[in-house]
Amino acid sequence: MKKILITGATGQIGSDLTLALRKKYGGENVIAAGHTRQPDKELAESGPCCNLDVRDPVALQTMVAEKRIDTIFHLASLLSAVAENKPQLAWDININGLINVLETARLQNCTVFFPSSIGAFGPLTPAENTPQDTIQHPDTMYGITKVSGELLCDYYQRRFGVDTRGVRYPGLISWKTLPGGGTTDYAVHIFHAAVKDKHYDCFLKPETRLDMMYMPDAVRAAIELMEADSRRLIHRNGFNVSAMSFSPQDIATEIKKFIPDFSISYTIDPVRQAIAESWPRHMDDSAARNEWGWRPEYDLPAMVKDMLEKLSGRF
Ligand code: SER
Repeated sequence: MKKILITGATGQIGSDLTLALRKKYGGENVIAAGHTRQPDKELAESGPCCNLDVRDPVALQTMVAEKRIDTIFHLASLLSAVAENKPQLAWDININGLINVLETARLQNCTVFFPSSIGAFGPLTPAENTPQDTIQHPDTMYGITKVSGELLCDYYQRRFGVDTRGVRYPGLISWKTLPGGGTTDYAVHIFHAAVKDKHYDCFLKPETRLDMMYMPDAVRAAIELMEADSRRLIHRNGFNVSAMSFSPQDIATEIKKFIPDFSISYTIDPVRQAIAESWPRHMDDSAARNEWGWRPEYDLPAMVKDMLEKLSGRF
């Protein structure tokens, strides 16, 4: 990785991943491409930023050629709840955007990172210790685009020799940038509400347990997979990666250890509740551990402590 392009760089993963890559590979060598959100001060000042709509293949190919990009982290995507509201738009961005990235990579010899998700699984998938290779069959548009994305990336690898790699992220928790309309967003919003109002009204039921990960681990997973020796990789895309598993009531209990008068109430959103119930509670990530040495660092208590410290400083 010498010259890197990140699509969706102003999103929840992108804003953290861009800074981590710039630290490692030099600010000038990591181009942050956003579309709907403006870059914040730190992103704007630490290296080049640009506006790029991944649905525009000419703009994408021109950018990659002009900047001599060799690696693309393709993060631009609609999340699950937004995608359920706008399924045609989700297909357009998540699938046509990805095809444009893969075609650009094929023509200009780039390596591609594609984040899949727990959303790539569905109600027929075993929810506990979800195997690496199992029934997927999602029933959300988001999930359909993520399964198709995994398959497309594998196809470009097999058919054209494009070096594609990717993980299936669980719900991601971070303090820097808010997620853009997913089902696991409650696990981020709860911290903002706890620090500001000492109260959070949750849209998922108290016992809805899901697979989750803290952003520093998610960023490290992406970088370590992209730096892994390709000869060790049996899988390529859609590696299960897991770090912790909790429900709204579990995380509320943990937050109360730091903010004793914190309280939580529940007003259930049936759309997001149904999505959550179709997703894994905990994925088996042994393939990632064996093939490229994946290991998470943050469990629930360590994540909660760090989130509250970071957010208390901010507000
Ligand atoms: N965090 C995502 C969502 O909830 C899942 O990948 O949509």
